[in-house]
Amino acid sequence: TEPLKIALAGLGTVGTGVVRLIETNADLIARRARRPVRITAVSARDRTKDRGVDLSPYAWVDDPAELAAREDVDVVVEMVGGSDGPALALARTALANGKSFVTANKAMIAHHGLELAKVAEDAGVALKFEAAVAGGIPVINGLIDGASANAVERVYGILNGTCNYILSTMEDTGADFGEVLAEAQRLGYAEADPTFDIEGIDAGHKLSILAAIAFGAKLDFGAVEAQGIAQIKAADIEQAHGLGYVIRLIGFSEVDRHDGMPRLFQRVRPYLVPLGHPLANVDGPTNAIVAEGNFVGRLLFQGAGAGDGPTASAVVADIIEVARGEMGPAFAMPVEELEPMAAAA
Ligand code: NAP
Ligand code: HSE
Repeated sequence: TEPLKIALAGLGTVGTGVVRLIETNADLIARRARRPVRITAVSARDRTKDRGVDLSPYAWVDDPAELAAREDVDVVVEMVGGSDGPALALARTALANGKSFVTANKAMIAHHGLELAKVAEDAGVALKFEAAVAGGIPVINGLIDGASANAVERVYGILNGTCNYILSTMEDTGADFGEVLAEAQRLGYAEADPTFDIEGIDAGHKLSILAAIAFGAKLDFGAVEAQGIAQIKAADIEQAHGLGYVIRLIGFSEVDRHDGMPRLFQRVRPYLVPLGHPLANVDGPTNAIVAEGNFVGRLLFQGAGAGDGPTASAVVADIIEVARGEMGPAFAMPVEELEPMAAAA
């Protein structure tokens, strides 16, 4: 059988995780994909960096944009990051050239997902981004396929592993905010610019994607009100605990039907979560998402929200779907018009 030929753009935490996973589980992947999945070309900034994986079997290109035009590439896998710049240029060109595109980049999907989905649809190829929301948890697939028969009215949860790691570690050890953030960066959980994590922007990117999938709403990151955790002190956490709560950064979205016109509420902020609530026991870089469907009831998706192995797991699951010819659509079919709702209203 013809192998599926893939190119990897970005060889950092996620990219090297993908190389390791594809090498380690090659036989299992070939069976599930119904054909071998072969890396043909790779790209990152620094050709000389030791990344702990053997890249010698693959063609190296310095400029990721070149991957979009190569004949030995069926699928481009983007793990560079950034809402615009080289990641977006690569996405546009690869899709327009008829190559399916798999990405872990929530910033780019939150800002440009609808445009890219249209380019993919016109070209008859796939745009997939399971790894962009909640790392290894298959929540996009769970909602877009598994819960597709339901009207979902509310989706909320812990969407940023770095913040959850910081809050739960401060709670357990009393450690200083800056110290724990540095550790989250060392462990590969944080974004290249960690202010996106601690100011709630990364969780906002994910929430907007999740809401579009869950409600069949128009992706609208601009309507997300985001507040982060930088102002939280160890004393706040201790006092909250004394009152029977933990502090968690939560992304919350629901459809508000109070005034006739259904409106979409999307907000990220620290919440007091009562001890005993399922989200109160979510520690470390773990994410957890609750979705409420009108027939299935309450679903809880929980697992590793950041890190090389879990994120690679979601990226490679998308690649396997493409290998099997499962092309999409990228977003759920729209079901109704939802006006954005200001969080303060
Ligand atoms: P990372 O460790 O910083 O890796 C980024 C990679 O992109 C590096 O290999 C870097 O090259 C390359 N790169 C950056 N700018 C480039 C440019 N202008 N041209 C060519 N290559 C460039 O980042 P990461 O943590 O793997 O994250 C990658 C993506 O996955 C991001 O969109 C992130 O939001 C997303 N994501 C990350 C996680 C996680 O847990 N880390 C989880 C889910 C999703 P060099 O190595 O040569 O510098
Ligand atoms: N920086 C992100 C987080 C990576 O900490 O959740 C996973 O998307």
